[in-house]
Amino acid sequence: MNEVTTQLKNWLQFFRELGIEEFYARAPERVAEPLSAESAPVEFQSAAAAEQEGTHSPSTSVPRAVDPAPSAPRAAPAVSGRFLQAPGLFDAPAPSVPLAGETLDQISQDLGDCHRCKLAAGRKHIVFGQGNPHAELVFVGEGPGADEDEQGLPFVGRAGQLLNRMLQLIAIERKNVYICNVVKCRPPGNRTPETEEITACSPFLFRQIEAIQPRLVCCLGAPATKTVLGIKEGITKIHGRLYDYGSAKALATVHPAYVLRNPREEKILREDFEKIRDFLAHR
Ligand code: URA
Repeated sequence: MNEVTTQLKNWLQFFRELGIEEFYARAPERVAEPLSAESAPVEFQSAAAAEQEGTHSPSTSVPRAVDPAPSAPRAAPAVSGRFLQAPGLFDAPAPSVPLAGETLDQISQDLGDCHRCKLAAGRKHIVFGQGNPHAELVFVGEGPGADEDEQGLPFVGRAGQLLNRMLQLIAIERKNVYICNVVKCRPPGNRTPETEEITACSPFLFRQIEAIQPRLVCCLGAPATKTVLGIKEGITKIHGRLYDYGSAKALATVHPAYVLRNPREEKILREDFEKIRDFLAHR
C-alpha cells in the first residue's frame, strides 16, 4: 500500500469512528471555509495540494507565518480552526479535524488500545500526554523513549530532567504545562518515527492541542517542528521564532536529547525558554 492509500484508509477509519459514513468528492478548486470570523485569518489549502508541494501536512489548513521565516510553515489548524463543511473525500480535513468541545479524555478513549501503526507491536504503554488540560503552554516532543514507555508518561527520562530544569529556569511548574509527543508509542531503538507512523498518530496530537487551546505550542526538535509547523529547515536556523498557529503561536527549539549529546547547545534551549517566558508574560 502506498502512502496516499494508507493515509486515505486512516482518514476513512477515523471518520467512521466518528459516525460519518458518507463522503463526496469535491472539485479541487473548492476549499473549506472557516466557520466563524475568528478563524478567518487562517488560510486554507487542500491536503492534496500540500501533499503535492511535498509538505505532508496532515490537514487542509495552512496558518500564515507572520514572523519572517525562510519558508512559510504548513500546519494543521492547531487552535480554533473549526470547519463548516462536511468532509469531501479527497480534500477532506485530516482526522485531526478539530471537534468543538472535545476533551482529552474523549480523545484518549478514541485512541483506545491503538493499533493504527506498527509501533503498537513493540510498546509497553501508550504515552498519551501529561499535564494541565487547560495549559497555556504545550510541549510536543518526538516520541517516547524507554523510560517513557515503561511508565506511560512523557519526558520522564534524562531528556525529561533537562526539560524540567529549563522549566525551573523560567519559573514555570511542570504541572501547569501539557507535554505530549508526535507519536504515542516508542519507536524501536528510539529511531525517528516514520512518515506512516506520524500520519497515523499526529491526528490525535492535533486534537489534543485543539482541546487544550494553549497560547503557545513549543516544538522540541525536528520531527515535532515538521509535524506541527511543516517546517523542514534546520532547527538551529529557525529556533526561537514565533509562528502563527491558528489562534495560538508556535515556536521550535532544539530537542533536550540533542542538548544532552551536545552540551554546548544548551544556550539555545535556555534562550528559547526565556522567549517562552517573555511571550507568556504578555497578553
Ligand atoms: N523524547 C521525546 O521526544 N519524548 C519523550 O517523551 C521523551 C524523550
